Amino acid sequence: MRKKKKTETQYLEGAVITDMAADGLALARVEDKVYFIEGAVPGDVVNARVLRDKKRYAMAQMTELITPSPQRIDAVCEHFDYCGGCKWQNLSYATQLEYKGKQVYDALTRLGKLDLSEQVRVYGSTQQYEFRNKLEFTFSPSRWLTPEELADESILKPQPGVGFHLPGRFDKVLHVDTCHLMDDKMNLIRNHVHQLGLEHGLTRYNVREHHGFLRTLTIRNTSLGEWMVLLMVGEDQPEALKLVLDSLASTFPWINSLLYVINTKKNDTLYDQEVLVWKGSDVIVEALEDLRFEISAKSFFQTNSKQALELYKITRDFAGLTGKELVYDLYTGTGSIAQFVAAKAKKVIGVEYVEAAVVDARKNAEKNGISNCEFFAGDMKDLLNDEFLAKHGRPDLIITDPPRAGMHADVVEMLCRIGAPRIVYVSCNPATQARDLDLMRAHYRLVKYQPVDMFPQTAHVENVALLEKI
Ligand SMILES: C[S@@+](CC[C@H](N)C(=O)[O-])C[C@H]1O[C@@H](n2cnc3c(N)ncnc32)[C@H](O)[C@@H]1O
Repeated sequence: MRKKKKTETQYLEGAVITDMAADGLALARVEDKVYFIEGAVPGDVVNARVLRDKKRYAMAQMTELITPSPQRIDAVCEHFDYCGGCKWQNLSYATQLEYKGKQVYDALTRLGKLDLSEQVRVYGSTQQYEFRNKLEFTFSPSRWLTPEELADESILKPQPGVGFHLPGRFDKVLHVDTCHLMDDKMNLIRNHVHQLGLEHGLTRYNVREHHGFLRTLTIRNTSLGEWMVLLMVGEDQPEALKLVLDSLASTFPWINSLLYVINTKKNDTLYDQEVLVWKGSDVIVEALEDLRFEISAKSFFQTNSKQALELYKITRDFAGLTGKELVYDLYTGTGSIAQFVAAKAKKVIGVEYVEAAVVDARKNAEKNGISNCEFFAGDMKDLLNDEFLAKHGRPDLIITDPPRAGMHADVVEMLCRIGAPRIVYVSCNPATQARDLDLMRAHYRLVKYQPVDMFPQTAHVENVALLEKI
């Protein structure tokens, strides 16, 4: 294997992929330098073009697969080469789980500086496709064309489309005919609106010039088989709106909640917009065991419902509640973990930043007949203070489920000061979790942990850790 220079661009020849990096890129070591190579998997021997060359590492793109790895499989999706969504589709699921487990182990041992004997098996998802309950698609008057399409003179340009943004590109939409991440009914709905748009010459939103009618389409479902469809349009065109929504309602009578938003502002954010009901309810209902959660267009809910149930069961199991405990559920979102453990606790206090989520949490708890949960809105580092503790009591157990950035250093410090006997730390980012555990090392020890796969075909992995006060 050798590295050679061709004019300005560097190429790697015969690079052997030996590992997978934390962000899901394949890794090769050549002459003491680490290369992160897009498109390759461990065990491959590849040629690659260097995209960015730094002193100690370089980013590269596979240009030729010389010897395929035995772990390599064919991707299911026709859009795999360009869509950024499911980059691990070319790895067998067993191998995906192996590398996710390694990612957690590496984070805990290297960043968390923990002494762990062995890697824990990741709790895999029974569904490896069609596991998502929510997808958002963007319409474009001029979809991004693949190099093959650009070269094809029989394809008129520009081409309208609907699909996902290319990785990191707000203005480039990859047209999608079939996505395998959600029940196939989602494809029928999206393709129907796309076809209607073509047949009736409906304009599509131009993100640079800020005009056009069809803007985004958000499709959600629940494990109870309920469907929500939200059409966002960029211009107030009552006739066109009626045409699309009536057609959706009559073609797919099983849609429980058909919604729309007329959004004439420059960004796609829904949260400051009025969501209107065209047909049916303004919510759909999700179930976790015997609990029910009403989900509105603006509500957050874990995007893999079946695996969320498993994650919550592991969390409840790690919590080991007896019915006597005061529990704090930090970063509670719409209070689903709080309600999930409520029957086994004396009382649960949920804290969350987003006011609307707290409103949903209170409403759902009431509908579930849960009277021992209270929810408070505020920034964790400000709200969780001595006054809050004096008012609500010192917790016997803390469950914390922060966003990818992990906990703010002030919150970590506060948790150490509170000194609850046990903490269950649920994380969607093992690196920041490991960083936080390291900050807590003088006060807490790791008893056990369980990685959970919420997002097959991606490098993402969730990890639940049980900590005990030293
Ligand atoms: C990973 S989600 C967890 C949601 C919830 N536990 C669940 O399972 O559905 C993280 C939550 O933390 C909230 N959050 C983010 N930053 C926050 C902060 N500084 N203070 C309080 N909550 C915050 C987010 O709004 C989000 O609901």
